[in-house]
Amino acid sequence: MPYYSNPLIPLLLLSSCSLFLSCQSFEFVNNGFNNSNLDLAGATIIKPSGALRLTNNSHNVIGHAFYPTPIPIFNNSPNSSSFSTYFVLQILPSTSNNGGFGLAFTLSPSPSFPGAAAGHFLGIFNSSNDGIPSNHIFAVEFDTVDGYNEKSDSDGNHIGININGMNTTASKSASYHVEGTQSREEEVWLEKDGPIQAWIDYDGVKKIVNVTISPLEVAKPVRPLLSEVIDLSLYLEKTMYAGFSAATGQKSSSHYILGWSFRLNGIADPLDLSQLPVVPIEKSSPSNVKLRKALIATFSVVIFILLGVLVSILAYRRVMKFELLEDWELDCPHRFRYKDLHKATKGFKESEKIGAGGFGSVYKGVLPATGVEVAVKKIMSNNPLQGMREFAAEIESLGRLRHKNLVNLQGWCKHKNDLLLVYDHVSNGSLDSLLYNSKNGNFLTWEQRFNIVKGVASGLLYLHEEWEQVVIHRDVKSSNVLIDRDMNARLGDFGLARLYDHGKTSHTTNIVGTIGYIAPELTRTGKASKSTDVFAYGILLLEVACGRPPVKYEADRNVILVDWVLECMKMGSIFEAIDAKLNSMYVTEEMELVLGLGLLCSHPKPEARPTMREVMKYLNGDEMLPMFDKLSLAGSRRVDEITSRFLALGLTDSITTTTSYSSSSIGMISCSSFDSGR
Ligand SMILES: *[C@@H]1O[C@H](CO)[C@@H](O)[C@H](O)[C@H]1NC(C)=O
Ligand SMILES: *[C@@H]1O[C@H](CO)[C@@H](O)[C@H](O)[C@H]1NC(C)=O
Ligand SMILES: *[C@@H]1O[C@H](CO)[C@@H](O)[C@H](O)[C@H]1NC(C)=O
Ligand SMILES: *[C@@H]1O[C@H](CO)[C@@H](O)[C@H](O)[C@H]1NC(C)=O
Ligand SMILES: *[C@@H]1O[C@H](CO)[C@@H](O)[C@H](O)[C@H]1NC(C)=O
Ligand SMILES: *[C@@H]1O[C@H](CO)[C@@H](O)[C@H](O)[C@H]1NC(C)=O
Repeated sequence: MPYYSNPLIPLLLLSSCSLFLSCQSFEFVNNGFNNSNLDLAGATIIKPSGALRLTNNSHNVIGHAFYPTPIPIFNNSPNSSSFSTYFVLQILPSTSNNGGFGLAFTLSPSPSFPGAAAGHFLGIFNSSNDGIPSNHIFAVEFDTVDGYNEKSDSDGNHIGININGMNTTASKSASYHVEGTQSREEEVWLEKDGPIQAWIDYDGVKKIVNVTISPLEVAKPVRPLLSEVIDLSLYLEKTMYAGFSAATGQKSSSHYILGWSFRLNGIADPLDLSQLPVVPIEKSSPSNVKLRKALIATFSVVIFILLGVLVSILAYRRVMKFELLEDWELDCPHRFRYKDLHKATKGFKESEKIGAGGFGSVYKGVLPATGVEVAVKKIMSNNPLQGMREFAAEIESLGRLRHKNLVNLQGWCKHKNDLLLVYDHVSNGSLDSLLYNSKNGNFLTWEQRFNIVKGVASGLLYLHEEWEQVVIHRDVKSSNVLIDRDMNARLGDFGLARLYDHGKTSHTTNIVGTIGYIAPELTRTGKASKSTDVFAYGILLLEVACGRPPVKYEADRNVILVDWVLECMKMGSIFEAIDAKLNSMYVTEEMELVLGLGLLCSHPKPEARPTMREVMKYLNGDEMLPMFDKLSLAGSRRVDEITSRFLALGLTDSITTTTSYSSSSIGMISCSSFDSGR
């Protein structure tokens, strides 16, 4: 029948009513909602964004939203009246597993449902009126739980036509038909695939109910999901209320309608999809948190494998679809679009990975809009990010820090549970790799090293004293110092440790930092300060001078760099501590300054450490290091004099204090610091 293959035919059939018969016209279209469009009942609210939320994700709640006036569907010509409705729904399950129970487009004689039950009854019926002809109710259910009339509730993902009760007249699992040479059914996950379009068309002449769904980016499929011959005029009354009902039960989801149009005797108007409200991701209620934790613990392995498979198969197509934004996110100037970052890093391709640390992996990328090279740090978390709003405020503020010796934070983006941080791309790698893995023979000269430590000091001074608020770095170390094309130092990852703490709900004092750089008082009090940053900077100075990591496993024991330098000094051979790779090519005064300042900064007593401003003065030669001031007459005894000066300052305390690193304090250090310490 070629006649019927023309997609315009239904349109002609439907509109023919108004041409040949005296039937009523009635229509409305809502791209998002406001409080004057609908009558709400139960848990239903209209969000400020215009999204209609039928239920929140509490257990056993019911929500209704109905067009305020009855629609005269079968008033004039019961044998030929038609209607068509089109809406966009979105279901967000309360747990990472399946939620429930579902929502239904409903035509009913009354907009209220006294005594209706939650759960499987979707807030429309209850066990005593289920299936009774006097209900006069037609509903199309979008149900996410199976098992009505059965012992157990299993995950459902189906769409059904219901008349007067919950036993469906027809039902199919949610999918849509793709035409073409290889025509096929594509499954749609009501809870996971973001907003879903739905069309319900009733042809009153041929008595056919069609139900069609598709994801938002797929136009209305030609072939409906359900096409049933039903004469609705036999069941319904002359005028009917149209609207939505939703319910949760033991399982719960937030059920949303984002837009809705309806027309009697014609095709429902299209919705302007770009105008539809965006649904915020909700935090689940505390009772769900426990449940989720238990579920995550039990099924994490399974989920992990499934996720891996899913992600690899669906990655590009599905992941990119929608970016769910919370209202406040719109005010953040440093927020990047996930799409752009995904594109910039070629989909976080393994080949673009330039590093991995305790906080996550780092990818190199080129921003599509500007062509600017960036480094994108991806911090993955298995749990939804807690306190994301505070996070963002803090990142926004860090994003305003600008200094030539900092790896500037350009922005951020939240995607699902991941946090993405966008930094300047710094080309020459990290200081530790240049100090210890000088494979290509490009080891650092003394001039470069001295310039680098000055740069780090300048960046740290800016964080401590020159910006509008004090920023404690909390993880100063050689692997966080990046070297740019001109061999200048750029300090990275500032403030991040603090952010990371935010994510934890517990108030236990986790020490964030890296073994070997943690000041002794930090292990006792857990409180980071400018002075603990200075301590770590001191270790970094020694590292640069000696070409040795802060803790080195040697001859069956961990050798602590500070102790080792002091020991060399006590034996009167401090110059033996100096990096042999330098091959004695250094400026003695500068070397002494760096070693001396390194020891002073890593003094076990915080009050003995200089501030970063003083450090700058020493490095610039504006002031003499305290122990050098009387050593202007350089002579053969100079080394001994320096040594005795150091010893007089009580630096040897650190030998006893710092040895505690290797034993007791390690237990207190969080995993992240272990990773980042590598
Ligand atoms: C509410 O929506 C209706 C129809 O969508 C529109 O005519 C009306 O102006 C809106 N009212 C407000 C206060 O936005
Ligand atoms: C969900 O809605 C119900 C009914 O309005 C209310 O009692 C409950 O507190 C809400 N739950 C949450 C988590 O907002
Ligand atoms: C509607 O159809 C029924 C039988 O299908 C018939 O008895 C009735 O007369 C028709 N009514 C109108 C108004 O056409
Ligand atoms: C079921 O619903 C009907 C009408 O909606 C109401 O009269 C009746 O009390 C309800 N039954 C129960 C058990 O709640
Ligand atoms: C629904 O169908 C089941 C079996 O198919 C039947 O046992 C039950 O009575 C029906 N319920 C109603 C309310 O019609
Ligand atoms: C319902 O779907 C069938 C195809 O299965 C189509 O022929 C018919 O025109 C559709 N009717 C309406 C009202 O969309």
